[in-house]
Amino acid sequence: MNKKWWKECVVYQIYPISFKDSNGDGIGDLQGIISKLDYIKDLGIDVVWLCPIYQSPNHDNGYDISNYEAIMHQFGSMEDFDELLKKAHARGIKIVMDLVMNHTSDEHPWFIESRSSVDNPKRDYYIWRKGKNGHPPNNWESYFSGSVWEYDKTSDEYYMHLYSKHQPDLNWDNDQVFNEIHDMVRWWLDKGIDGFRFDAIAHIVKAQGLPDAPDPHHLPYVRAYTMFSNLEKVHTLLQHLYETVLYNYDIMTVGETSGLGPEQALNYIGDKRHELNMVFQFEHMQLDSAAGGTGKWEQTSWNLLDLKNVMSKWQTVLHGKGWNANYLCNHDQPRSVSRFGNDGKYRKESAKMLATFLLTLEGTPYIFQGEEIGMTNPRFPSIDDYRDIETLNHYRQSRRNGVTNEKIMNSIWKKSRDNSRTPMQWNDSYQAGFTTGTPWIKVNPNYPEVNVKKALQDPDSVLNYYKKLITLRKQHEVFVYGEYQLLHPLNPDLYVYTRTLQKDQLLIVLNFFDRTPVFDMPKELAECTAELLLSNYEVKEITLDSVSLRPFEARIYRLTKTHEK
Ligand code: GLC
Ligand code: CA
Repeated sequence: MNKKWWKECVVYQIYPISFKDSNGDGIGDLQGIISKLDYIKDLGIDVVWLCPIYQSPNHDNGYDISNYEAIMHQFGSMEDFDELLKKAHARGIKIVMDLVMNHTSDEHPWFIESRSSVDNPKRDYYIWRKGKNGHPPNNWESYFSGSVWEYDKTSDEYYMHLYSKHQPDLNWDNDQVFNEIHDMVRWWLDKGIDGFRFDAIAHIVKAQGLPDAPDPHHLPYVRAYTMFSNLEKVHTLLQHLYETVLYNYDIMTVGETSGLGPEQALNYIGDKRHELNMVFQFEHMQLDSAAGGTGKWEQTSWNLLDLKNVMSKWQTVLHGKGWNANYLCNHDQPRSVSRFGNDGKYRKESAKMLATFLLTLEGTPYIFQGEEIGMTNPRFPSIDDYRDIETLNHYRQSRRNGVTNEKIMNSIWKKSRDNSRTPMQWNDSYQAGFTTGTPWIKVNPNYPEVNVKKALQDPDSVLNYYKKLITLRKQHEVFVYGEYQLLHPLNPDLYVYTRTLQKDQLLIVLNFFDRTPVFDMPKELAECTAELLLSNYEVKEITLDSVSLRPFEARIYRLTKTHEK
């Protein structure tokens, strides 16, 4: 058992623009975060992952960086950041920064120079190509709709952007780019930050020669996989970064890597690889996207057997070899309770059941702001209420293709990234206590019911349940290091597993729906006595005989073998 602090911590992800506004301009900021550090501490959090706070024109809410060593002025100043770091550390909270190395903003001075002429010394910092008979250099599609190529008339060439045209991709074949990024990473680490989440890291290397993707009718995701995802050279670059910079610091690193399974993930996180500590995988996030069609926007319903399959695969393949980063929501995904639970009648029960799931898997759990109070997707009536560049591009493109407003809005209500980006709901006063001004995006209208103040006062709230779970995780090592084993793999209602660490064993029983299935103790565990550590319902009698579970019921038992008692 290879113990590490980053395996034992619970991470809280902050999306600063929506967390807390301190000066009434409607935009969350660093002083806002500082004012909530005690709340975060009280929840039991040891690490905050801060989404990008660097200088940015904000086309993609900070994921378009125009200066890596300055703070976005709407968020505050470098002094505010230093204060945040100091005050977080004083409370025993570490700060992990979100770093975008695949691309910069088109307003970054490197790009302004690069674009100015073909023989500018920084021309080669980005990926420029001539068009083919008036068409883009190849057929690759951007994650945010349309071609990855943008025509630039200054030089009559195209530049590549896997995301929006305001996010030109850096050319990692250029040694100067490599050195500049290394220096910048070192600069942040020397400030005393505690790690990085490396944005879109799987994509920094593109297929040699930039050939057309094989089948233009394939899903964008499938194309991405072959043409600009997880290519071999990414590993060479990460190993180099590790050996020359990261190695010298006691930090944690997590990479965002779509398009891979656990075996491939071990190339990034395997103990001997010297690359990253963890990666965010996407397989469970794609269970409700139709295979074929246009990927995430074409929906299908997910089913529990698939979820069990995917999660169990990651749990077992990585055990003893790498470390999982577990999440059910983040700033790019809809709210977990709306997606995998029930955000109506059983909002509280299902949010607690999902919390139980997240906190009892092997791996480091990542809680996205608001998840701890069971925040839900907002379902705003009009496209005008949405802000996300991916959502807006998708809307425009689909309208051009003749899709009805109603149909597009239906998929936006389920999948838009803005579902998780509405302001944090602090209390039931004006704008949920997020701002005294007008928020940059509307507050979810359910804030009088769903908010932190109310949750703090209610002993039975989702928030207080999270606190209990986090406390348990810290009390029993088996929550962190125990080996996972799936039980009842074919049960369509229940997700049941054990976690085992030497003599210590947990049994986790999760009812994923509003039905009331019966849970039968598997034979191999029948010899045990059970102590109930936590449940989201009152449990009168503790027995491991057949129990009929209530909607979204979750139970964590601690098992002891009878004959050893
Ligand atoms: C990552 C981020 C996402 C961003 C994209 C481009 O996927 O999580 O929010 O839009 O990279 O930087
Ligand atoms: Ca502000």
